[in-house]
Amino acid sequence: MSRKDNSIYEQVNNPNEPAKAPKRQRRKPLLLNEMSPFAVKEAYKAVRANINFAIGAKTGCKTFLITSSVAAEGKTTTAVNLAIAFGQTNAKVLLIDADMRKSSIHRYLGIKNTLGLSNVLSGYTQLNEIIKKTPHGFDCMTAGPTPPNPAELLLAQPCDDLLNTLSQYYDYIIIDTPPVAVVSDCLALVEKVDGVVITIREYYSVHEQLEKAISALKFADAKILGFILNDSKGNGRTYKYRYRYSYRYNYKKGYSGYDYYDNYGDYT
Ligand SMILES: Nc1ncnc2c1ncn2[C@@H]1O[C@H](COP(=O)(O)OP(=O)(O)O)[C@@H](O)[C@H]1O
Ligand SMILES: [Mg+2]
Repeated sequence: MSRKDNSIYEQVNNPNEPAKAPKRQRRKPLLLNEMSPFAVKEAYKAVRANINFAIGAKTGCKTFLITSSVAAEGKTTTAVNLAIAFGQTNAKVLLIDADMRKSSIHRYLGIKNTLGLSNVLSGYTQLNEIIKKTPHGFDCMTAGPTPPNPAELLLAQPCDDLLNTLSQYYDYIIIDTPPVAVVSDCLALVEKVDGVVITIREYYSVHEQLEKAISALKFADAKILGFILNDSKGNGRTYKYRYRYSYRYNYKKGYSGYDYYDNYGDYT
């Protein structure tokens, strides 16, 4: 290191200045693309095929929702990436953000959320202003402003009407919802869809929470299409020798913490 470099080093690390806490950084969304690891792409293709099998023979639009027991298990990541994966088959795909309390799809996709699902469910009729085309091969309806009564809105007739109308235009409708063991919004939707996909983050949610979620879904007569094990810590051999629909990104060596989710549990 040259003398000049050294002086910069000392300036930055001035012992008289208190150390600054590193800025908390919001990680970039993990969107499926051609640079994604092979195993990740394959895992999504497998999930896509299995969702189709699980829904079974059905003509017309297939509608399913993604949920989990608690927050931050990877629902939104899964929903967006499944929309991409289904879009890759040239199907017409609509992704709806029905997590109106903690909407995030607009952030994942870098689009505005001024108008969205909450507006439609409260009587706004201009669907063409609400549905946005994305460059990822699917259309998207963001959540819109947080309403005071999300569960009631999802339960009411306008939500049925909306899904019926949309099903005339799309091959797949994928709905991102809040965690089922935390709030009941998702349960309001189960009878309006063809099935439910449950995301489980490995070593994150606990057994009782998952059990609570599954029994709530069963009680609501949900058709559980399957489970996605997300952020699996399994080694590479998992994909070769034991086929699981799990995936894990490992771009940054050393990332393993859940610092980002510190204040994520509060859903009310
Ligand atoms: N497989 C994964 N590997 C690493 N980070 C992930 C993975 N899945 C999700 N994440 C990250 O975890 C956080 C929460 O994920 P998200 O999909 O928003 O969860 P949820 O919608 O269930 O609350 C986000 O920062 C997301 O990028
Ligand atoms: Mg989410």
